[in-house]
Amino acid sequence: MSDVRVHNFSISLDGFATGAGQSADAPFGHAGERLHEWMFTTRFWHEMGGGREGGTGADHAFAAMHSAGIGAEIMGAGKFGPPGWQDDPDYKGAWGPNPPFHTPVFVLTHRPRPSIEMEGGTTYHFLDASPAEALKKAREAADGKDVRLGGGATMIRDFVAEGLVDHMHLVQVPIVLGRGVRIWDGLEAIEDVYDIEAVSTPSGVTHLTFTAKRR
Ligand SMILES: NC(=O)c1ccc[n+]([C@@H]2O[C@H](COP(=O)([O-])OP(=O)(O)OC[C@H]3O[C@@H](n4cnc5c(N)ncnc54)[C@H](OP(=O)(O)O)[C@@H]3O)[C@@H](O)[C@H]2O)c1
Repeated sequence: MSDVRVHNFSISLDGFATGAGQSADAPFGHAGERLHEWMFTTRFWHEMGGGREGGTGADHAFAAMHSAGIGAEIMGAGKFGPPGWQDDPDYKGAWGPNPPFHTPVFVLTHRPRPSIEMEGGTTYHFLDASPAEALKKAREAADGKDVRLGGGATMIRDFVAEGLVDHMHLVQVPIVLGRGVRIWDGLEAIEDVYDIEAVSTPSGVTHLTFTAKRR
């Protein structure tokens, strides 16, 4: 069976994956861009925009695993857009006409709407479904490839709690946010079900990999 993977999911030292006060102008609330500055310096990031700049060291090597072998993504309503996007019938996500997914993307929302086909192979499907049901649909769409969970923390927590996640790559950034949405709430003793490894890089971040022990 294909794997369910999380990649490049950035958290503060106190475990917040987004700050408080999310809006269209501040997708990560009071965290600003600080959770992802490590990624902006990588070749991976520049290649996503069609460039060739950026470092090819360890941060790049971890980041670049994001796309290989992925056939579909599942994301939460909070990643798809700012609070209230469901009130705008023309809203098409935070990434413009050619989003960087290039696969089917399943958006979990309690207010689903018809699917939207974007440029570059991305189609947004909107689902009001349990994690297991959403994963079944995403696996079918992924056609044998792996399914990536795009976040945010709320949906990743739900999938981990149900034992549906095979591999997670989290990036701990040396800042303390104090407020926002935390990844760890409700995941006490996660170390009992995942092998956890840590690699720190010169940029100051620590890459954490979680590999399900049942594999
Ligand atoms: N640090 C990172 O690397 C990273 C990565 C991705 C995103 N983010 C950030 O994380 C934030 C979003 O995360 P979040 O934790 O607030 O929210 P989220 O996980 O993106 O979405 C949670 C919302 O999705 C909907 N939902 C979740 N499960 C559902 C289900 N089974 N059925 C139907 N609807 C379901 C619900 O919204 P409704 O009730 O409104 O429908 C729920 O409130 C954003 O600020 C984003 O920028 C950070």
